[in-house]
Amino acid sequence: MQLSLYQTIGPHHIKQLIHDFYQGVQTDQFLVPMYRDGFAVAEDRLHLFMMQYLGGPTTYSDQRGHPQIRKRHAHFAMNEETKTHWLRHMNKALDQSKMLDEHKEYLRSYFTKTAEFLIS
Ligand code: HEM
Repeated sequence: MQLSLYQTIGPHHIKQLIHDFYQGVQTDQFLVPMYRDGFAVAEDRLHLFMMQYLGGPTTYSDQRGHPQIRKRHAHFAMNEETKTHWLRHMNKALDQSKMLDEHKEYLRSYFTKTAEFLIS
């Protein structure tokens, strides 16, 4: 049986990454006002989304339906500036993660491309 990327990277590393990311976002006065449902909810959603994206349990879609992440970001201020702030916190969380370097670089590239897609 082939392991999912979620298992290969390590569920605890994914959970920690998303937690550390939101610790950073919460200190960013530029981003804070965007998170109207609160950070616990946002952290849970992104964690479940990444779990599913990486081939793990599909709890995200069971709870939220099809991801449609472009549509779900449509009512936020998605632009070069918010992208830079978002990626700064994600890259910082990746820098401090204990996952393997090759996994960090895979995720760094994925987040950068997806953020670009979301503002385009
Ligand atoms: C470009 C910069 C980005 C900004 C400013 C941004 C901002 C936000 C905000 C404000 C929310 C709402 C949080 C809430 O649920 O209350 C959100 C949700 C979410 N974001 Fe982003 N985001 C960005 C990039 C990304 C990227 C790159 C991904 C995927 C890798 C992503 C995945 C998600 C997911 C899965 C949700 C939850 C959607 C839902 O179920 O409602 N975001 N984002």
